[in-house]
Formats: sequence, C-alpha cells, structure tokens
Amino acid sequence: MEGKLVWDLPVRLFHWLIVLLVGASWLTAEFEWMTLHFYSGYALATLLLFRLAWGLAGPRYARFGSFVAGPRRVWSYLRDWLRGEAREPAGHTPPGGWMILLLLGLLAVQVGSGLLNSHDGLDAGPWYWAAPADLRELAHEVHETGFDLLLVFAALHVIAVLLYLWRPGVNLVAAMFSGRKQTGEPAIAGSRLPLAALLLAVAAGAVWLLVSMAPAPSLADLGIY
Ligand code: HEM
Ligand code: HEM
Repeated sequence: MEGKLVWDLPVRLFHWLIVLLVGASWLTAEFEWMTLHFYSGYALATLLLFRLAWGLAGPRYARFGSFVAGPRRVWSYLRDWLRGEAREPAGHTPPGGWMILLLLGLLAVQVGSGLLNSHDGLDAGPWYWAAPADLRELAHEVHETGFDLLLVFAALHVIAVLLYLWRPGVNLVAAMFSGRKQTGEPAIAGSRLPLAALLLAVAAGAVWLLVSMAPAPSLADLGIY
C-alpha cells in the first residue's frame, strides 16, 4: 500500500466499530432487544471514553489539538475549497474537525440519555431509578430526538466524504481502512498499541463502574409496595 501512515490502527478500529455499534443500537431498539441495546451502548461509551483519551495522548493526527481549528481557518478552508485551491491537510480538515466533535458529542448524548431512559418502565437504563420523573421524561425525549440528529449529521458526514472524491479527488474511505495517505506532512511513527490497550482497559473499567454503581430500584419503584 502506498502513502504515509496517518490514521493509527486504534483510530481506524474506533471508527468502523462505532459505525457498527450505531447500527446495532438502532436495530436492537427497533426490535426491542433491550439487553443487547444496553450492551451496545456500554460498548459505545467505552469507545467514546477511549477516543477522548486518544485525542489527548494518541499519535499526531488523532489528537484534538491537531484538528480542532478556529472559525477563521474553517472559513478560509471552505472558501479555498470552493475555488479548488484548498491546501489538504494529512489529518482532518478544519470543518471536518468540527463535524467530528459534533458526531462524538451526539454519541455521548445518546449514551448519557440512554442511561436515564426506560422502555415501558421495566427495561431501564442503570441510572433511571435514581432520576426524578421530569429528568426521566427529558432523557426520553433527548434519546429519541438525539438519534434523529445523529442520523442527519452522519449523512452530512458521508456526503462530505463523497464530495472529497470529486474535489480534491481523494478517497478518504480507503484511507480510513488502510490508514495511509499521499501527503507532504510527516507520517506517524506507529499506532502505540500498548498504550491504546491500556487506555481501552481503563475506559472499559470506568464504564463498568458507572453501570455497577447505579442504585437498584426500590420495591415501590417496582410497584410491589
Ligand atoms: C453512524 C455513522 C458514523 C459516525 C458516527 C461517524 C463518525 C466519525 C468520526 C467520529 C470520525 C473521526 C475519526 C477519528 O478521528 O477518530 C469519522 C471519520 C471518518 N468517517 Fe465516519 N462516521 C460514520 C459513518 C461513516 C461512513 C458510513 C463512512 C463511509 C462512507 C465514513 C467515513 C469516514 C471517513 C473517510 C473518515 C475520515 C475523514 C477524514 O479523513 O477527515 N463514516 N467518522
Ligand atoms: C448506555 C446506553 C444506552 C441505554 C441504556 C439506552 C436505553 C434505551 C431505552 C431504555 C430505550 C427504549 C425507550 C422506549 O422504549 O421508549 C432506547 C431506545 C432507543 N435507543 Fe437507546 N440506549 C443507549 C444507547 C443508545 C445509543 C448509543 C443509540 C444510538 C446511537 C441509541 C438509540 C436508540 C433508539 C434509536 C431508540 C428508539 C427510540 C426511542 O424510543 O428513544 N441508544 N434506548
């Protein structure tokens, strides 16, 4: 495979796993397989925490600091792109960086509202029983609307990736699989897999704690007294 290594293996696995898990979350909600739906959500929560840490400690192009740009750079990139003169970065583009933060934020909102959501008051997210009624109601609304927003922005994200095939004529999807791109910027040295494994384990532990620390429903919650 030609080109320089830009996307480390953890970033690539993270991406295709979240795409799979969003699909699984939708499918399991649709068929009311709530236990599976919760596990898919916990897996997503783990990946999101991992990506947060990787955005601080991962290789160059995975870092938030390398792709979160101010409004001036976003604007000048868009203007140059329209003229066909944009200088293409090895990592995410300035507007692309904001889209990524938005998608990660929407996924976090799905997980957060899911923890307080309930299917018919029985199959409940772990923190449902600790929440007052109005917060439960809000979480329900947010979970429903948040998913629609996620679909809209994911579709825009895919459209942007497809537009890139036309201008500047680069296949970003292939790069998200191989990790490699033709670029004048330096390649990353490697994927830092031991660090990634450690951060993933810490993220999984944090999600396990978050779920297992939730209070059990009282007998009154279950309608027994
Ligand atoms: C639920 C659907 C999706 C979500 C939530 C999503 C989210 C994301 C996120 C968070 C990133 C940043 C990766 C990182 O730096 O860690 C990203 C990048 C990317 N995604 Fe997706 N994605 C989705 C679907 C897709 C699909 C279906 C495709 C393929 C057609 C795709 C192609 C890409 C590509 C090519 C990049 C790299 C963009 C670049 O080079 O700057 N995504 N996506
Ligand atoms: C910890 C994670 C999560 C928990 C505990 C959770 C919990 C729930 C519950 C209890 C319902 C049923 C609501 C009802 O029947 O009225 C539900 C529905 C749904 N969830 Fe989740 N969820 C989680 C994560 C996610 C994620 C990550 C997504 C998508 C990316 C998602 C998408 C949906 C959708 C589309 C529905 C059906 C619409 C609705 O009623 O809200 N969920 N979820």
